[in-house]
Amino acid sequence: MIRKCLFPAAGYGTRFLPATKAMPKEMLPIVNKPLIQYAVEEARDAGLQNMAIVTGRGKRALEDHFDISYELEHQIRGTEKEKFLASTRELIETCTFAYTRQVEMKGLGHAILSGRPLIGDEPFAVVLADDLCLNLHGDGVLAQMIKLYKKFRCSIVAIQEVPRDQTHKYGVIAGDLISEGIYRVNTMVEKPAPEDAPSNMAIIGRYILTPDIFDLIADTQPGKGGEIQITDALMKQAKNGCVLAYKFDGLRFDCGSAEGYIDATNFCYEQLYLKGL
Ligand code: UTP
Repeated sequence: MIRKCLFPAAGYGTRFLPATKAMPKEMLPIVNKPLIQYAVEEARDAGLQNMAIVTGRGKRALEDHFDISYELEHQIRGTEKEKFLASTRELIETCTFAYTRQVEMKGLGHAILSGRPLIGDEPFAVVLADDLCLNLHGDGVLAQMIKLYKKFRCSIVAIQEVPRDQTHKYGVIAGDLISEGIYRVNTMVEKPAPEDAPSNMAIIGRYILTPDIFDLIADTQPGKGGEIQITDALMKQAKNGCVLAYKFDGLRFDCGSAEGYIDATNFCYEQLYLKGL
């Protein structure tokens, strides 16, 4: 079954400069927890224990975050503050963390291909930490997708309806509805202008991928923006076999944009932090 989760985290985060000049975007905190930790917790809650992180230059803080800090822990041992490290400590103790570097930032598809040595020949999940997904009333998004994978055994992308004038920011799908909230994809376009978009159903940062995707990415030429796009490889998979798109239960905040980041911060402060969750 699915054991591993890949976190492409090598992007430059240019929309968040200067904050991301020397610090990875994935370390930006939502209240008191960095985005990457929310992402790893979502994967752990979905039953995945092997975390595979694709990093790049200037991303060392990610590795340090999921490691013990002896000096700091010694300093706060026995004090009230010890509890603030408990959630990170638990992840370190219950999950494994493996890292590889994407040497040139040639797009999300290329970042996923860079993770191949960490994944091998098995189905896996992909989480983009800058898309913060929360479901306060049930399973997290990844857990929902893994349930679906058990039934259909093919690649799955999470989708969300977006306003028509936003389609140029996303991969957009069209497909046949096979049951409530589940589509069999037959078209997928990367960042289409509203007039060219096949629908308003946008792919967000959660995927389940079968391992044949790696060869498909390796055969994919750079597409939109000169980047190797995961949507182009997924389109080939959809044509040759099956890719599902799943409208998930829960909220999603685009924390790669200032507006989404502020919304996420306000939501988490009120719904999680103030309630001690
Ligand atoms: P984004 O499109 O948000 O790009 O990437 P970015 O570089 O992080 O941010 P901006 O647009 O410059 O502000 C989506 C996800 O894919 C990863 C990013 O780290 C992010 O999690 N990514 C993107 C890579 O790992 N490598 C790449 O070459 C591109």
